[in-house]
Amino acid sequence: MALTIGVPRETTDSETRVSFVPEVAERLQKMQDDVTVIVESEAGTGAHHSDADYEAANCEIVDRERVFDADLVTKVAPPSDDEVDRLSDGQVLIGLVDPLNRPETAQALAERGVTTLSMELVPRISRAQSMDALSAMSSIGGYRAVIRAANQLPRFFPLLTTAAGTVKPARVLVLGAGVAGLQAIATAKRLGARVFGYDIREPTREEVESLGANFVELEVEIEADQDESGYAEELEREKQERQPELLKPHIEEADVVVSTALIPGRPAPLLINEAAVADMQPGSVIMDLAAPNGGNCAHTETGEMVVEEDVRIYGPTNLPAEMPVHASQLYAKTISSMIQEFLEEGSFVPDFGDQIFDEACLTHDGEVRNDRVRNLLGLETLPPEETETSEPTE
Ligand code: NAI
Repeated sequence: MALTIGVPRETTDSETRVSFVPEVAERLQKMQDDVTVIVESEAGTGAHHSDADYEAANCEIVDRERVFDADLVTKVAPPSDDEVDRLSDGQVLIGLVDPLNRPETAQALAERGVTTLSMELVPRISRAQSMDALSAMSSIGGYRAVIRAANQLPRFFPLLTTAAGTVKPARVLVLGAGVAGLQAIATAKRLGARVFGYDIREPTREEVESLGANFVELEVEIEADQDESGYAEELEREKQERQPELLKPHIEEADVVVSTALIPGRPAPLLINEAAVADMQPGSVIMDLAAPNGGNCAHTETGEMVVEEDVRIYGPTNLPAEMPVHASQLYAKTISSMIQEFLEEGSFVPDFGDQIFDEACLTHDGEVRNDRVRNLLGLETLPPEETETSEPTE
C-alpha cells in the first residue's frame, strides 16, 4: 500500500499559507517511502515556495482535480463548499476546520463520508505537542500583533537617552497570557517596552513574571478555574461585569494594549469598554486578537481598523497569514507529525483507542463525532467509547 497526500492551493481571501512546505514534504517522503506528496500548481506561491521548489523536494505538481483525489488531503483554512464537494467516501481531510464556528461544514463532511481530523481539537497533552497547530499559530499571532502595534505607535518602544532629551519607554499591556499573550509579552520586552500582563488563571502570574513583565493585580481577586487542558473556564457573570471597570485604570496608562482573552467555544469576554478607550492617550493602539470571536474591546470590528477618540483599534483575523513562510513551516510540521502518528504500512489508520485520534476526529463513517459540534447541530451525543488517556502537560 502507498499513501498519497494531496496539498491544495488555499483559495480563501488573504490566506497565504500552505499546508505542506517543500522541506517538510521531502523529509516525510524520505522517512516513509510508502508516502507520496502531490501538490496543486501554485499552492506554495503565497508562502514563497514555487512549483519548482516542490519538484526539487520530490513532490509531483498536479491540477486541482487530481489533488482532491488523494487518499489524504491537507488544508490550512476550513474547506469551502466546493472543496467539501470534491471529497468523498473514505478520504481523509486534516486541517483547521473551525468546527465550533462552522458546524455545518462538519455536517457536510460527515455526509460525504470523509474522515476529518480537526487540528483545533487535538488534545493538549504532552504526546500531542508536536501536533499542536493552535499553539504554533497563536505564537505567531502574538509576535506579529506587537510588531504591527510598534509600527503604528507614534512613539518609541524603548527608553532612549539622546542629546535632545530622554524618551520614556512605551507601556504595553497584554490581556490574556495564553500562548499568544506570552509571545506578545516576550516580543514587547525585546523591543524595550515596559510590559504588563494580565490573566484570570493563577498559573499565568509566574509565566508573565518569568518573562520580565509585571503581573497586573486587580483590586478584587478574579480567579478562574482552568480545565484539564489548561484552558480558562468562563468567569461568573458578576465577575465578568466588573472586569472592564477594574482594568480601566491599567488600560488608560497603556500606549499599546494587546488583547488575547478567549474561552474556547464562547464569545470573547469584554475587557476594554468605551470609557477606557476614551481615557487612553491620543495615538495609542489596541490590537484585539480576540476579534474573530467578537473581540475584547467594545469598539472592535472584525477584520477592520477603527479610530475612536484618536485611538487605533485593530481587529485582525489572520495574523499568521502575514508571516506565511514560518507559519506554513510550523503548520506543516504539526500536520506531518499527525500523519506519521497514524501511518501503518502505507495506510492512514483510524485509531479510536488513541486519545489524540479520538478527540481530533471530527467526522468518520458518516457521523459528526465531536459532542460540542453535535450539540450545535442539534444532534444527540454519541455513546462513549474507551480511549487511552494521557496526563495533560503544563
Ligand atoms: P486561549 O487562546 O483559549 O485563551 C487565551 C488566554 O485568555 C488564556 O490564558 C485564558 O486564561 C485567558 N482569558 C480567558 N478569559 C479571560 C478573561 N476574562 N480575562 C483575562 N484573561 C482571560 O488559550 P491558549 O493560549 O490557546 O492556551 C491556554 C493555556 O492552555 C496555555 O497557557 C497552557 O496552559 C495550555 N496549553 C497547554 C498545551 C499543552 O500542550 N499541554 C499547549 C498549549 C496551551
